[in-house]
Amino acid sequence: MSVDPTTDFTKYVGSLVFFKCPKRSWIAGVLESYDTSKKTGTCKATRDGGDTVTKLKQSELYPAREESLDEDVDDLLLMTELHDSTLLDTVRRRYFKDVIYTNIGAIVVALNPFKYTIPRYLDSEMPKYQEEGDVIEKNLPHSWACAHNTYHEMRNEARNQSILVSGESGAGKTEASKIVMKYLGALSARRGTDKDKEAALAVGTKINLSSPALEAFGNAKTVRNDNSSRFGKFMVIKFDGKGFLIGANITKYLLEKSRIITAGQGERIYHSFYLLLRSKQCREKFGLAEDKKYRTVNAGQTLNNKEYDTEEEFNEVTQAMTKVGIPAASIESMWKVLAGVLNFENVDFVADGEGCNPTT
Ligand SMILES: Nc1ncnc2c1ncn2[C@@H]1O[C@H](COP(=O)(O)OP(=O)(O)OP(=O)(O)O)[C@@H](O)[C@H]1O
Ligand SMILES: [Mg+2]
Repeated sequence: MSVDPTTDFTKYVGSLVFFKCPKRSWIAGVLESYDTSKKTGTCKATRDGGDTVTKLKQSELYPAREESLDEDVDDLLLMTELHDSTLLDTVRRRYFKDVIYTNIGAIVVALNPFKYTIPRYLDSEMPKYQEEGDVIEKNLPHSWACAHNTYHEMRNEARNQSILVSGESGAGKTEASKIVMKYLGALSARRGTDKDKEAALAVGTKINLSSPALEAFGNAKTVRNDNSSRFGKFMVIKFDGKGFLIGANITKYLLEKSRIITAGQGERIYHSFYLLLRSKQCREKFGLAEDKKYRTVNAGQTLNNKEYDTEEEFNEVTQAMTKVGIPAASIESMWKVLAGVLNFENVDFVADGEGCNPTT
């Protein structure tokens, strides 16, 4: 819904409006003045930092109703007024109360909290969702609820279901996918005999363990995300007729291959190269030098990262690969290939007549 372009905002001077703040997007405030000839107004925020913004165009103003200012709904479709301003204001107020999930019908909007300590979202709360019926009705919006409803729809309709996770870089897509997979694994292992449960849990664990391996080779530090996926992922999660998790198939697409060679300022190439160089055993075995000697590793002049940066994490990735079933010899070959790539990338060539000679 948008405001009628013929609206005369003079009648709203002194009243509450939503306005588009350059720093904070739509926020609530008071329209202090309005210039009818230029059709622009000045607003002062009543909260969110109290900014004053001038020369606001009509399209950047929206009359606010007192009652919609503090409206809090779990599903945005239930809001009395639907407009960018009211929707954003609602999710923002929820976010500051540590409520990061809000529904829009069957869609779950998640705002990245950048912390795993919010009590209502701890894994220990998961059983409350799992105990519900086919559709989550009593618990707050969550990716768990989306996973729960989808699982039951799959079982009830005996048809494949899809969950699409989208958002900009750093929004939390990869983390949301892991949350969904963990929930599905746990949900499918709730019934059946101990043997059934054990088997479903084992598959769930294997699926979760694929993340460190995939991320080591396909994720990198960017200026937006310390663990940015540089590839798209299509995951098929398989259940048997009784609803037990029996396997998964992951297809990758559009890997950013240039990141093997170089990275922009403040960024890194793939995590795996740094992990390899953190491993004392690999350095010795493959005759590797210290990290800054490798031009690709140091291309972005950022050798360190919060994640995937220690010998311990190298060991975790190697163990994860072992647990998902990759033979030790293949794992060693993978690290060896990386060592070769690192050395090869340090080779320079000098012109020699019509050909060239490598130098180091
Ligand atoms: N639900 C969450 N709870 C807590 N922290 C989160 C959550 N989701 C994301 N984060 C934090 O934000 C970071 C970025 O999230 P994530 O890697 O999932 O983004 P992304 O959308 O996959 O980005 P990209 O497109 O760059 O791969 C995570 O490393 C984590 O620190
Ligand atoms: Mg990602």
